[in-house]
Amino acid sequence: MISGAIKDDYIILPLEDFMDTKYPDKKLSYVIIQNESLKYPICVFRFSETEYEALWMQCTHQGSQLQVFGDKLQCPAHGSEFSNQGLVQNGPADQTLRKFPVYIESDFLKISLKKPV
Ligand code: FES
Repeated sequence: MISGAIKDDYIILPLEDFMDTKYPDKKLSYVIIQNESLKYPICVFRFSETEYEALWMQCTHQGSQLQVFGDKLQCPAHGSEFSNQGLVQNGPADQTLRKFPVYIESDFLKISLKKPV
């Protein structure tokens, strides 16, 4: 869990936060961003140098906070599961997770909080 700085409706995150401190050659497949002004954390999955997915960690069933389990997000309340792209893989939830646009600017990721997709 890392804390992301919020500036002008963007969460800004150094790309080096995906560095695996144990294995510097490898990259983490996700990071979880927390900020006190956010009601839920945001999980950012990394697929490649240029592909990321930022998902709101609120279950679309009844709103419990999700947990990351491998490359999935699971809900501890009633067992819903979502893929690392926010798609429902197991109910009772039946709606995809809220996503945020992600932009790369030099060595930073910018996650837009303004326009949910
Ligand atoms: S609140 Fe997540 S499955 Fe019910």
